[in-house]
Amino acid sequence: MTEKKRYDFGKGKLDSFQYDNPMLFFSKWYQEAQEQGCADPHALVLSTVNEKGQPSSRVVYMRNLLEEGFIIYTNYLSRKGSEILKNHKVAALFYWDCCERQVRVEGEAEKVDSKLSDEYFAQRPRISQIGAWASEQSSEIDSRASLEERVIHFEKKYPDVVPRPPHWGGYLIKPHYFEFWQGRLGRLHDRLCYIKEGKEWRKSRIAP
Ligand SMILES: Cc1cc2nc3c(=O)[nH]c(=O)nc-3n(C[C@H](O)[C@H](O)[C@H](O)COP(=O)(O)O)c2cc1C
Repeated sequence: MTEKKRYDFGKGKLDSFQYDNPMLFFSKWYQEAQEQGCADPHALVLSTVNEKGQPSSRVVYMRNLLEEGFIIYTNYLSRKGSEILKNHKVAALFYWDCCERQVRVEGEAEKVDSKLSDEYFAQRPRISQIGAWASEQSSEIDSRASLEERVIHFEKKYPDVVPRPPHWGGYLIKPHYFEFWQGRLGRLHDRLCYIKEGKEWRKSRIAP
């Protein structure tokens, strides 16, 4: 492997806590990630843990930002869905390279109200709606062709409106821990944490 020139960070700083509420802090950074042109600012790495304590991670999109947390949509029968069913604890990681920032979140995932999933599903492109029926996400399949046959099957089954599959919907990720990381020169990064204690958020700075 050719050696990469060491990159130094210097675009921002977190000299002090400007927010008592980490969701407000998050929403400011999320807005800046969009304004500053970060690639895929809505993408996060979601980690779940199985019964044996084995963590697994994958990228998903945040589709809504609420006061209580983040909403993602997926297949409830997928690997992540089965793991969340048995263990609600999840971790979410946002990395916004153009701002030299990451946000680490820990919390619990819960299914959103089915009406909300219906509304979101209804405004997805038809091909994605059909895909939600055709793809038994995370299950082993014989071939690409068998997946495409299922697509044709559901295209025929639902020539007009595609109903939301009962196994597809949203999760609300409710955080109880945040870390806001801002890259700084000489690897002396800023790390500001928020830990939920009852209804309050306790703030702390940790070493880089
Ligand atoms: C940029 C990007 C965005 C993605 N967004 C989603 C998403 O919003 N929902 C989803 O279920 N999968 C999404 N995926 C696919 C997941 O990474 C993953 O392959 C899928 O959810 C199955 O994961 P699982 O088998 O661990 O459950 C996305 C992948 C990428 C690379």
